[in-house]
Amino acid sequence: MTNPHPADDRDRPGLDRRTMLRGVAVTGALGASASLLSACGGDSGGEETGSASASDSGSGSGSGSQAASKELASTSEVPVGGGMVFKEQKVVVTQPTKGDFQAFSATCTHQGCTVGDVTGGTINCPCHGSKFNLDGTVANGPAAKPLPKENIRVQGNNIVLA
Ligand code: FES
Repeated sequence: MTNPHPADDRDRPGLDRRTMLRGVAVTGALGASASLLSACGGDSGGEETGSASASDSGSGSGSGSQAASKELASTSEVPVGGGMVFKEQKVVVTQPTKGDFQAFSATCTHQGCTVGDVTGGTINCPCHGSKFNLDGTVANGPAAKPLPKENIRVQGNNIVLA
C-alpha cells in the first residue's frame, strides 16, 4: 500500500523538475528569439513604409491614364459651322452652332472609306464624292445612310470620347 504512493511521489517531483528545466530552457530560447524578433520588427517597420508609398504612386498613375486616352481636341479647335476629322480614332466632331458639339463615325456609309475633311459646311468623302451634313445626315450620294453617331462629352475646354 505504501509502495505505490512513494513511487509516484518520487516520479512526479523528478518529472516536474525535468519539465521545469525544459520549460526554463524553452523559455530562455524563446526569450532569446523574441529579442531577435523584436530586432527584426524594427526592420520590417521600414519595409511597411516603403510599400505604402508604392501603393500611393499606383493610384496616381491610374487616374492619369484615364484622362489621356479619351481626349480628342479642345473646343476651340473645332470651328463653328464646321468640324474636324480624327482619322486615328475614326471620329468626326462637328459644331453646327456655337457650343453644340456632335460626333459621328468617320467611316463612310457608302463603301467604308474614311471621310477626308469638313469644308463648305459638309463632311466630305474623297472616294466617290459623298457629302454629309454637320448632323451626320446625307447631303449628297452615292452614300444612302447617315454617319452613325458617336458619344462625346465636353469637359471644361476639352472634347473627350464618352
Ligand atoms: Fe465614301 Fe464611296 S466610300 S463615297
